[in-house]
Amino acid sequence: MVGVGPTGVFDDHCFIRACRGLPHDRVPVWFMRQAGRSLPEYRAVRGTGTILDAIKNPDLSTEITLQPVRRYGVDAAILYSDIVVPAHAVGFGVTVTPGVGPEIAEPFRSAADLDRLRPLDPVADTPYVLETVRQLVEELDVPLIGFAGAPFTVASYLIEGRPSRDYLNTKSLMFNDERLWHSLMDRLADLAIASLTSQIDSGASAVQLFDSWAGALSPDQYQRYAAPHSQKVLSAVEQTGVPRIHFGVNTGELLELIQGVGADVVGIDWRVRIDRARARLGGSVALQGNLDPAAVIAGVDAAVSGTREVLAFNAGHPGHIFNLGHGVMPTADPDVLSEVVRVVHAEGTVGSVQEVPQ
Ligand code: CP3
Repeated sequence: MVGVGPTGVFDDHCFIRACRGLPHDRVPVWFMRQAGRSLPEYRAVRGTGTILDAIKNPDLSTEITLQPVRRYGVDAAILYSDIVVPAHAVGFGVTVTPGVGPEIAEPFRSAADLDRLRPLDPVADTPYVLETVRQLVEELDVPLIGFAGAPFTVASYLIEGRPSRDYLNTKSLMFNDERLWHSLMDRLADLAIASLTSQIDSGASAVQLFDSWAGALSPDQYQRYAAPHSQKVLSAVEQTGVPRIHFGVNTGELLELIQGVGADVVGIDWRVRIDRARARLGGSVALQGNLDPAAVIAGVDAAVSGTREVLAFNAGHPGHIFNLGHGVMPTADPDVLSEVVRVVHAEGTVGSVQEVPQ
C-alpha cells in the first residue's frame, strides 16, 4: 500500500500529500541547492577540503542539511550529498573541485573502464550517508528528500571528465558504441538504485532523481539512450511507496517522456509555464517548480512577483510543490528566499479552482 513504509510518519505532511496530488493545507516549498554556498552559516561550518570530505562527516552533513530548514522554514529537507558520491565511493576516481564541479582524472573511455564501476554496497561503501540520513530523521520535523543522479547525467560527468556545455564525448560514445553505452548506463542505474534504496531504508521520505543535463538530448535520443535506464531506477524504488520526483533542466521538449519513465512528480524548469505543463501531462501528475533562479538574484521585487505568477499559473492545483526552476545560485540573497517562502505560505492556496491568467 502506498505510504506504508519506513517513512509513513509524514504521510499527512503537505509535501508528501502534494507529491501524491492529494488535498492538503498549504503549498509546500523547498529549494534545490538550498543547502550550500548562498548561506553564510554554510560557509562558516563547511571548512576547507572538498565537498566529498564534508559529506563523509555525518555530524557536519546533518548540520548543513538542517540549516536551510531552520532559516527558511521550508517544508522539506534535502540530504547534503552529491550525485557523484556513489561513483566516488566505488573508486572511480571522482573529485569535486570548488567552483568547477565534478572532475575525473581518467574519464570513462572504453569497455575496460566498466571494471572501475563495481556494484555499490551502501553499508560498506557509504556508511556516512546512511548515518547522516539516520541522524536527520531523528532531528527533522519535515520530510527528508534523498536523491541520486540519473544515469545520463552521471555518465556525462564520467565521460567528459568535467562539467561540459556540449557533451561531445558523451554523445560520441552514445552514437559510436551503443552496446558499451547501455552497459555503462546499466551500471550507473544499479548505483542509483542501491543508493536510493539505502537512503529510503534509512528513513528518507521521498526521493529525487536528478537528470539535470537530459535537456542536451532530443526526444528521440532521450527515449533511446536515457529513458530505459531512468525507468529502471524509478521502477526499482516504486514498491517502497515513497514519492519519486524526477527533474532535468531544459526538458520542455521531454516532459511527456520524463513522466513516462515513472515519476510521481515531474520537476519543471522556468522555461515551461506550469499550467501548460499540466495541460500536456494531465492532472494526475504532480509538478515541482518553477521560479527562475535569476529572479532571486534580481532582488526581492522580481522574486515576489515571479512567485505570485507561478502560484497563479498553478491555480490552486493540489499537485504542486513550489521550488525554483533549478538550484539556488551561490550569489542568492537568503533574505530574498525567505520572502519567497513567506509569500508561498501566505498566498498559496490549495484546492480552490481559480482562473489561470493568460
Ligand atoms: O540541494 C541541496 O542543497 C543538497 C545538496 C546537493 C549538492 N549537489 C551539494 C553540492 C545536491 C542535491 C546536489 C546534486 C548535484 N550535484 C547535481 C544535480 C542538481 C543540479 O544542480 O542540477 C549536479 C549536477 C551535481 C554536480 C555538482 N556538484 C556540481 C555541478 C557542483 C557545483 C560546482 C560549484 O562549486 O559550483 C557540485 C558541487 C556541490 N554540490 C556544491 C554543493 C553545495 C558546491 C561545492 C561546495 O560547497 O564545496
